[in-house]
Amino acid sequence: MSDHDTTAPAAKKLFIKTYGCQMNVYDSQRMAEAMGSEGYVLTEDQSEADMVLLNTCHIREKAAEKLYSDLGRLKPLKAARPDLKIGVAGCVAQAEGEEIVRRMPVVDLVVGPQTYHRLPAMARGEAPNILTDFPEEDKFDHLPERRATRRAPAAFLTVQEGCDKFCAFCVVPYTRGAEVSRPVERIMREARDLVARGVREITLLGQNVNGWHGLGEDGREWGFGRLIRALGELDGLDRIRYTTSHPNDMADDLIEAHRDVPQLMPYLHLPVQSGSDRILKAMNRKHTAEQYLRLIDRIRAARPDILLTSDFIVGFPGETDQDHQDTLRLIEEVGFGTAFSFKYSPRPGTPAYDRPEVDGAVADARLQELQALLTRQQKATQEAMVGRTVGVLLEKQGRQPGQMIGKSDYLHSVFVDTTEAEIGDLLQVQIVESASNSLHGKIVSSPANA
Ligand code: SAH
Ligand code: SF4
Ligand code: F3S
Repeated sequence: MSDHDTTAPAAKKLFIKTYGCQMNVYDSQRMAEAMGSEGYVLTEDQSEADMVLLNTCHIREKAAEKLYSDLGRLKPLKAARPDLKIGVAGCVAQAEGEEIVRRMPVVDLVVGPQTYHRLPAMARGEAPNILTDFPEEDKFDHLPERRATRRAPAAFLTVQEGCDKFCAFCVVPYTRGAEVSRPVERIMREARDLVARGVREITLLGQNVNGWHGLGEDGREWGFGRLIRALGELDGLDRIRYTTSHPNDMADDLIEAHRDVPQLMPYLHLPVQSGSDRILKAMNRKHTAEQYLRLIDRIRAARPDILLTSDFIVGFPGETDQDHQDTLRLIEEVGFGTAFSFKYSPRPGTPAYDRPEVDGAVADARLQELQALLTRQQKATQEAMVGRTVGVLLEKQGRQPGQMIGKSDYLHSVFVDTTEAEIGDLLQVQIVESASNSLHGKIVSSPANA
């Protein structure tokens, strides 16, 4: 080595753990990119990190409490390496703010979902170490352009944030703030950038994604269906998905997009929470079970093969056995491809917080019964795929050599045996077998990547 050699300082390492929904997954990517501009590279190994960032979820008590058990486990690491920075981002950060630092002094930074563009300045000590306001400025205007860190053919794109629906059980309107739609031109630019980097599938994200609206490229007010049509015109974008939707925002235009836009995948997550009108009313969902069922009829008329999924809460305050039976009946009537179901968790600050709770054991039993029904429906839906040929976008290597994993049009995980195909190939695959949470298929077409 000559005297003139200089060694570049080793990059600082950032470890991020993401809890909660896909919007947090997207935010974690954007925070990683923002910190990338500060010289931080991502690490999968917490023990070698210079900064640990926990991107948190507040939706149920269990999700929120997980933060504190993880912080407890970080104490020895921080004691051994006092220069380690520990940051808390996301919805618990928004909801609890400085309370987090009071309870857990190991925490250096607290940053909410609408202020994380300031994370680099916070890390440099040039901004307050607790930032949880809802600023006037749009964080997306202050974040670095998106960069592909590795070849990933499917990406998330947040188009809408916040929620004005105020369901009686839900913290999101408080943690994410009021509904805001990102402008058309920004969304189109980000989508074009992603496609230019090899992305073939985009999932549009928002807490109320189908409530998105904006001024279109033609000077007219666009709804979400119109945005999807515009994205359908992008060369190289093969698949479009979106989540999560509210039944009351399923406009005709969006339903028609499911009929007309071939890139829009035949899959819809449409949470209903309960099948009882009494409970729906108490939840402030602003629609009845019957209205939901008729909406499903219209969606299926537009796209008969669409796979439907949903969210359910059991044991909401006031729920009787009859209400529970009504929910089971709605599930029987719709036939879901899969669904998430949760035991009600009272959240501080929400309207339902103080309402008398359903007996815990009763709620547990109802949850089990409901999940058993949903599992049967999931199995039936998967088995009905056997023999069919579907599109599969390969996303990663499987555990066995010569095996790859992708997502079908219907969002099932599909294993295929192949030594030739590559990540990013969109193949026609015939489904040959259904396992518990995945399908197995064989390739019937060579990659069409032109
Ligand atoms: N914006 C989406 C859902 C966001 S939260 C929508 O409106 O559908 C995701 C799911 O968590 C909800 O659909 C609901 O089923 C569940 N959830 C929200 N708050 C909850 C609570 N307090 N207890 C139990 N489950 C809850
Ligand atoms: Fe929460 Fe309801 Fe808004 Fe969904 S629509 S985020 S459940 S308040
Ligand atoms: Fe959780 Fe916040 Fe998403 S509370 S579900 S991370 S919007």
